[in-house]
Amino acid sequence: MISTNIDTAKQLLQNEGIIGFPTETVYGLAGNVFSDKAIRSIFEMKNRPYNNPLIVHIGNIEQLDKVSQEIPLKARILAEQFWPGPLTLLLKKSSEVSDLVTAGQSTVAVRMPNHSLALDLLNSLNFPLVAPSANPYQSISPTSAKHVEHYFGNQGLFILEGGESINGLESTIVGFEEDEVIVYRHGAIPLEELESAVGSVRLNEEQKNGIVSPGMAAKHYSPKTPLIFADSLIKQIEHFETKDIAVICFDKLPKLFNMESSIIYSFQGNLENAAKRLYGLLHELDDRNLECILIEKFPDQGLGRTINDRLKRAATLN
Ligand code: TXA
Ligand code: MG
Repeated sequence: MISTNIDTAKQLLQNEGIIGFPTETVYGLAGNVFSDKAIRSIFEMKNRPYNNPLIVHIGNIEQLDKVSQEIPLKARILAEQFWPGPLTLLLKKSSEVSDLVTAGQSTVAVRMPNHSLALDLLNSLNFPLVAPSANPYQSISPTSAKHVEHYFGNQGLFILEGGESINGLESTIVGFEEDEVIVYRHGAIPLEELESAVGSVRLNEEQKNGIVSPGMAAKHYSPKTPLIFADSLIKQIEHFETKDIAVICFDKLPKLFNMESSIIYSFQGNLENAAKRLYGLLHELDDRNLECILIEKFPDQGLGRTINDRLKRAATLN
């Protein structure tokens, strides 16, 4: 059920229930960070392996001390600059945070979402909320309440209506080693912005080489329709002339189109808009029983890097 009633959301959470939770990145499946019952329900609903840790959401900086300790200087600088916002910090966990949240790791992932309804809710509770993206394991993240309903409506999930997510891509995740900032997941804050705040940052091995570390599954964000993610659309299109496909390009459309049954979509060279619309577009296209979705590689900079990272994982073929 989709609703704007924040009091019902609050009651459900206080009773160890789960809700659909709006944020500026994607919608989450939220529960009380201190309730093992709530945490287990989230893993079960998502069909998510227990070795994949959850992100904790806080509404104000005082709540940070409830879940973490020993905050490095660069973490403080980043929090000051980007919170509330789509940046998740990996910090040493406090003893109150259960191993279920962190998958047994000594670090906890924390962020303060930049969404007024989410912040109002968090600030009305006396515990932070864990919230992974509100999609079954490995499928496309939801950027609207309707997407969440599509996935979990039949389980009677209460979904707090917070409008379309304005960023549309998950948060950037960074950790800290000695004086270094390490990027664990590309996200809605581009590398360039991190670097202007704290100097150069290092990509962890998985981001550099595509090697999969626990909790950062290679296959992810996938529609049911086969998705081809290609450097050159022109070459791929030749294989599909008579088929029922969708073609998505970042900028200009290739001239070769004589495919009447195809859906053609361009982001007009606008990265921010592409970031915001991408998942919604994939959700829509996935309902149309197409033979395939063909997407052109984005420029590898700014949000384009994040989009390419997601599409690479979503793709059936690269
Ligand atoms: O934008 C977002 O971050 C959204 C909204 C709802 O806040 N949440 C989200 O959560 O994307 P989820 O669960 O779909 O992705 C969380 C990622 C996973 O890849 C997980 O492995 C990683 O965060 N993560 C969580 N705790 C970690 C830790 N201690 N060390 C390394 N990675 C961690
Ligand atoms: Mg997710």
